[in-house]
Amino acid sequence: MEETKKETNLIFSGVQPTGNLHLGNYLGAIKNWEKLQETKKCIFCIVDLHAMTTPENRNEIKKNTREVAAAYIASGINPDKNIIFVQSNVKGHSELSWILSCHTPIGWLNRMTQFKDKAGKNKEKAPLGLYSYPVLMAADILLYKSTHVPVGEDQKQHLELSRDIAQAFNRYYNQDFFPIPEPVITGKATRVMSLKDGLKKMSKSDPSDQSRINLTDEPEIIRKKIQKAKTDSLPFPNKIEDLQSRPEVMNLINIFSALSDKDPEKIIADYNDTNFSAFKKELTDMVETNISKISSEMKKLLNDMDYLNSILRKGFERANEISEKNIKELKKIIGFFGA
Ligand code: TYM
Repeated sequence: MEETKKETNLIFSGVQPTGNLHLGNYLGAIKNWEKLQETKKCIFCIVDLHAMTTPENRNEIKKNTREVAAAYIASGINPDKNIIFVQSNVKGHSELSWILSCHTPIGWLNRMTQFKDKAGKNKEKAPLGLYSYPVLMAADILLYKSTHVPVGEDQKQHLELSRDIAQAFNRYYNQDFFPIPEPVITGKATRVMSLKDGLKKMSKSDPSDQSRINLTDEPEIIRKKIQKAKTDSLPFPNKIEDLQSRPEVMNLINIFSALSDKDPEKIIADYNDTNFSAFKKELTDMVETNISKISSEMKKLLNDMDYLNSILRKGFERANEISEKNIKELKKIIGFFGA
């Protein structure tokens, strides 16, 4: 780690390598990491064990893993100053996940809305891994004794559970072993919505590609997607309160706000009472500029496999060193034979 980053805060976050990385992942998470890396020690993980929890994501894990690594670096995460690594390379994640699962009441997991959404109607047939997913997520964070976790709003409940699990472990062994991790949900677009339905989250798994802007979309595609993005027949809003009943418009204004760093109030003042075309044009230009930079850099990185592999190898070594140290201490606390 860099000598200048001396304070005890440790940032941890991750993205699943499930393909179709989109503007929501960028604005809700990765863009915020870029700022944090200036002053904080950061670990950014590609959480491939999580990607196994749903069958449709088990294909192409290796390709998608490299794509996420490339997206991190292309979005401005500096691999020399931060740890970038692949979850399944560090065995401590699975080991700690088991230990923590023994301190997690089933009732806590039953409350997780993401499991209910993903398992759908046939819960009995859902894989156990999908159900215990939040425990593995707690293990990811706690394995490094992380203090802050920058994520989008959809991960809030999982983060609250991670805090509860850390407290349960500390209480049981009467120790202050795990810091209680703080969620960092910041930025102007903590929940980016689908371009087709303002009540649905923009998601990698939405069957409609028109619902999201992918980080690999060409400028022409971005333009068409924003042009076709759902709004309504009313003119551009003239006060912030109007947005409550206009979710699609609110979503586009939030995206505009996140990319321009202008407050929604200012955007409304600039465009009020016009039709949407001027606003959408400016929005398209901004999305295009941001995404093209990332996607062209991603392409370059994905053509240099040796470089990407070396980053992930170095990241693994650094992450594994912390993991082994913490797992060793943990085993002593638990009192395992040989610890
Ligand atoms: P994942 O892969 O679904 O998403 C990665 C990050 O993107 C954010 N995000 C969004 N933000 C705003 N609007 C959206 N529409 C949107 N969609 C996704 C997510 O909040 C996330 O920050 N469980 C996590 C991965 C994970 C993790 C961890 C994160 C596993 N272990 C430990 C932090 C710490 C997930 O499924 O993210």
